[in-house]
Amino acid sequence: MPPERIPPGIHNAIDYERLAAQHLPADRLAYIAGGCGWDRTVAANRAAFDSWAVLPRLLRDVRGGHTRLALNGQPFLHPFLLAPVAHQRLAHPDAEVATARAAEATDTCLVASTLSSTPLEAIAQAAGQGPRWFQLYLQPERAHTLDLLARAEAAGYQAIVLTLDASIQLASRSALAAGFVLPPECLAANLTGYAPSAPTPLAPGDSRIFQGAMRHAPTRCDLDWLLSATRLPVWVKGVLHPDDARALRAAGAAGLIVSNHGGRSLDGAPASLALLPAVRAAVGADCPLLLDSGIRSGQDAFKALALGADAVLVGRLQFYALAAAGALGVAHMLTLLAEELHACMAQAGCATLADITPGALLPCPCPCLPPFEAPAC
Ligand code: FNR
Repeated sequence: MPPERIPPGIHNAIDYERLAAQHLPADRLAYIAGGCGWDRTVAANRAAFDSWAVLPRLLRDVRGGHTRLALNGQPFLHPFLLAPVAHQRLAHPDAEVATARAAEATDTCLVASTLSSTPLEAIAQAAGQGPRWFQLYLQPERAHTLDLLARAEAAGYQAIVLTLDASIQLASRSALAAGFVLPPECLAANLTGYAPSAPTPLAPGDSRIFQGAMRHAPTRCDLDWLLSATRLPVWVKGVLHPDDARALRAAGAAGLIVSNHGGRSLDGAPASLALLPAVRAAVGADCPLLLDSGIRSGQDAFKALALGADAVLVGRLQFYALAAAGALGVAHMLTLLAEELHACMAQAGCATLADITPGALLPCPCPCLPPFEAPAC
């Protein structure tokens, strides 16, 4: 068991990333940190945040400051959510149960993955009174999707997050090179009761992608079906194109998550942050809009909020904090993120999230601000 204490030298949330190699075997680290292909989109996500600077302001009174917000009427104390990340037993034996405890302790909304290594009911129990949403991958059999929905509703999840951008994911070259194979104890616990659908052999001339991997990929019909199959609000995750955003909102999505899956779906896709202003313009001010992919600090969250997001999700950082210090680490990481955001808001003269506007940012590259790299301790 990893020690349940905060490792020395952690002063910022991103320090958990720097320490990840000390707490994770090399092959697991390669799988988690890697994106897909040659990690170009992973790099683009970070570069996009570095292409903006925050403008400090003077003589602003922020003594009544707070970060409260509401998403579709659901209140939150801060704009950080825990992104759905699968197979958390790779990082810690307590896996999603530890993450859920940290979420409850920090009033953070947890988004539990369909592919969690702990059943969704046990995650909900560990999350206690804390907010929780369930991320859904549509299953090849609709009966199995309906069962997942019923289980999520019964376990008190308050929203469904439908992920649409990962029907096919290109392999990560770094994970392949490190020889990563998913260990059996990390398999998707939610799905073990569902008999796998029989594979359909490809006909001569069929594509392994079009007629193979994409055979069960969601269509617009599936989305309409899902919207009528649950009473919970349905968010859609994986939106990049403004036209898709407009169409999904018109179809009935409760909110959208601008995301490229942390660079894990299409290597060469643009940074999520780069598309955020266009998506916000497409859906208008009233559409609840979240962003993920590349968030490593409170200042990154500030930039995303300035460019149109209502809140952000944190993916890999939760894995790294979980590996380093279990539930305590995840709670500590979230506390650091919130404090970093408070500090950035105070410096920029913003007392509330509504005060964070595009005018708070200045486009870079600027000669005085090199790309950020956390220095070694
Ligand atoms: C993910 N992500 C993900 N997304 C999802 O909708 N369902 C899932 O099961 C998973 N699983 C998963 C596993 C691992 C190891 C990673 C790193 C990511 C994507 C995740 O929700 C989020 O979009 C990205 O992680 C955000 O980028 P950052 O914060 O990791 O840079």
